[in-house]
Amino acid sequence: MKKKIIVAIDGWSSCGKSTLARALAKQLGYIYVDSGAMYRAITLYFLREHIDWTNETLIPAALEDIELDFRPNENTGEIEIYLNDENVEYLIRDLIVAEKVSEIAAIKDVRAFAVEQQQKMGKKKGIVMDGRDIGTVVFPRAELKIFMTADNAVRVERRFKELVEKNPNISVEEVAENIQMRDYIDANREISPLRQAKDAIVLDNTNLTQDEQLKKALKLVKGAVVA
Ligand code: DC
Repeated sequence: MKKKIIVAIDGWSSCGKSTLARALAKQLGYIYVDSGAMYRAITLYFLREHIDWTNETLIPAALEDIELDFRPNENTGEIEIYLNDENVEYLIRDLIVAEKVSEIAAIKDVRAFAVEQQQKMGKKKGIVMDGRDIGTVVFPRAELKIFMTADNAVRVERRFKELVEKNPNISVEEVAENIQMRDYIDANREISPLRQAKDAIVLDNTNLTQDEQLKKALKLVKGAVVA
């Protein structure tokens, strides 16, 4: 497939967006960008530096001290996020970050900071980006928009399995609560709330394996490339 396109993948928390986006980018030889990782890294910075993010006047100066970039892992080749030259790919998955990230992602200046960088990364196309507002705000003219969803119980189970490996004390209830809270804040915030773009194709992966999802997505890409 010669023509390069932009693939925007949005959807609810923990429904496998990143897993699919990563696999799809690999298959296509595209860049993969996990936009949620950017909001998570900003959150980690605010937490570490004790930035009072409820005071919006402090945000612009704090953002000036943040540099984010994505680099491939030397061994696996997987793309990982760096915060001021430090690999934080692992740290940003912590529940402490997950508990605050939706609050911080709702701040106007934080969104403008992240969106500007995301749009720059998509300038040359050949990119798969996942998040909440990729098809609606970041790349409203993306050639392919996928909106992912899955049953709540399945999402909780998947995220629990992922987190319990790092933290054996975590409970299913805690994970369920966090997912529910993030969905609520993400879908109800004033700026760029999570919405399904009008021209997005829904992919419910409740009963699909990762392979099946990838096959479906590749078909959609083929369709979008010839369109
Ligand atoms: O995809 P994720 O769970 O890693 O995202 C973390 C948080 O970042 C999520 O709760 C909402 C926010 N987010 C956002 O507001 N816009 C995006 N494009 C991506 C993530």
